[in-house]
Amino acid sequence: MIRTYVILTILCLYQIYTSFGQDCPSKQELQSALRQVHKLLSAHETSYLQSIRSLRKKLNLLQSAAARQNTKASNGTCPKLEVPNNGKKLGKVLAVGHEVHFLCEPGYELVGSESRVCQESLSWSGQQSSCRNINECSSTPCLNGGTCVDDVSRFLCTCAKGWTGATCQTPVLTFFTVVTNASTSTSTSSPSVSPSALPSSPFMHPSRCTQFLGSTRCSCEAGFTISGRDSNLCIDIDECEVFHMGQAGRLCVHNCVNTPGGYRCTCPPGYNLTRDSRNCKDIDECETRQHNCTREQICVNTYGGFQCVRVECPRIRNATYVKTSPVRCERNPCPVDNKACSQAPNSVSFHYLSVVSNMSAPRVLFRVSAIRVLGDTLRFGLLGSRGRRHFTVQRSGRQTGQLLLVSPVQGPATLEAEVEMSELERRATLGRYITKVTLFVSPYGF
Ligand SMILES: *[C@@H]1O[C@H](CO)[C@@H](O)[C@H](O)[C@H]1NC(C)=O
Ligand SMILES: *[C@@H]1O[C@H](CO)[C@@H](O)[C@H](O)[C@H]1NC(C)=O
Ligand SMILES: *[C@@H]1O[C@H](CO)[C@@H](O)[C@H](O)[C@H]1NC(C)=O
Ligand SMILES: *[C@@H]1O[C@H](CO)[C@@H](O)[C@H](O)[C@H]1NC(C)=O
Ligand SMILES: *[C@@H]1O[C@H](CO)[C@@H](O)[C@H](O)[C@H]1NC(C)=O
Ligand SMILES: *[C@@H]1O[C@H](CO)[C@@H](O)[C@H](O)[C@H]1NC(C)=O
Repeated sequence: MIRTYVILTILCLYQIYTSFGQDCPSKQELQSALRQVHKLLSAHETSYLQSIRSLRKKLNLLQSAAARQNTKASNGTCPKLEVPNNGKKLGKVLAVGHEVHFLCEPGYELVGSESRVCQESLSWSGQQSSCRNINECSSTPCLNGGTCVDDVSRFLCTCAKGWTGATCQTPVLTFFTVVTNASTSTSTSSPSVSPSALPSSPFMHPSRCTQFLGSTRCSCEAGFTISGRDSNLCIDIDECEVFHMGQAGRLCVHNCVNTPGGYRCTCPPGYNLTRDSRNCKDIDECETRQHNCTREQICVNTYGGFQCVRVECPRIRNATYVKTSPVRCERNPCPVDNKACSQAPNSVSFHYLSVVSNMSAPRVLFRVSAIRVLGDTLRFGLLGSRGRRHFTVQRSGRQTGQLLLVSPVQGPATLEAEVEMSELERRATLGRYITKVTLFVSPYGF
């Protein structure tokens, strides 16, 4: 103890010095310090050995004194000890200093002291000993819902319906196919099985066993596998777990549900499973009239749902609009010399798009074209600042501009952008045509 303490102290000091970036003690200083520690240690060692020697001496003295006393007072006896029920007592002498041992029969465990000594006070050391029946059921040895009954040195299982064996580990019925030849010819001797006799879980059933040349081979139906603990049992394979991320991607595009012997994919509301039973396809609520939009509204199908939108023509001072289609408003002719009116957009169109979440980008969402060009220049641009984070407008032809989504958008979200196409003649605006785009982004990426 002392040794370690001293050495550690020195190391610690040394470390503190270096860690604070101060100078290390010189080599000579260090060596002299170490010599002193050596001396100190030798001194401690000597005194330590001396103490041990004197301790040993004292112990020897005590021992001999005790022995003398034992022989002197060995006349009295302790009271007689009973033999425990279902056990044995070893040792008959009841005199002071003598020991008695206790043993229990198989199936019983000892409670109290295993051995007791007759003490100077003429009483026994330790506690009274008895033998108690071991409860073999305490380890719950009965499987598959069996009930345990404790018996001396053993337990008995009362098995649940469909199970047998000492610990109810074996299903009652096993299909046996006896192969009499090396050929494939088999004769099946399957007993008629009442379903109630089988284990209750549909994820577990007895295996089909084949005896051939004295050895038994058990197999399971597709989707089941032999249980590791008991080859008589087939347990369901959890395909959702096992094929969570297969080579061909996920088993199900949305959600996987394990079933006895198989699995099935499910889709979120608003989607139906496709024919391949793996993918989800959107249900067109507008087409299938599952929407509740009013007559004044337009139903817009989105991935996983629908939206009811209402197209309203713009209200701009000195200009009036008329709806020329459910998604288009056109300006009425302007009075002569009404500048405010002639500068208002000639038309406003509404465009509703539905996309899936996290759709790859950049991606063209739609194109605007001028049918006939009156002026010498066409310009395309984004109006306002709302859409600038997600959209950009590019010219894609002499008379065509396109709206691009610049980065993937995580749904659910609704984004809006206004694309303006303006026609110019010698830098004077001849007309402005606006397209308002609303983008519905689904919550799921499929
Ligand atoms: C031991 O017991 C015997 C008879 O039982 C007796 O005569 C003797 O004095 C006892 N000795 C001591 C030391 O008590
Ligand atoms: C077993 O094989 C032998 C010879 O190949 C054939 O004669 C006999 O019919 C076979 N028995 C059965 C039960 O298939
Ligand atoms: C979607 O599936 C349900 C239930 O299978 C079916 O009744 C419905 O007609 C399907 N809808 C479409 C659009 O396929
Ligand atoms: C239309 O149906 C949606 C759910 O599909 C519901 O949230 C909404 O309140 C309904 N609107 C009307 C006007 O019934
Ligand atoms: C708006 O129209 C009124 C009459 O219709 C006219 O007096 C006014 O000047 C117009 N405003 C502009 C900015 O042209
Ligand atoms: C979005 O897609 C990219 C690549 O297509 C993928 O790496 C990323 O994990 C996806 N993000 C989400 C939230 O699905």
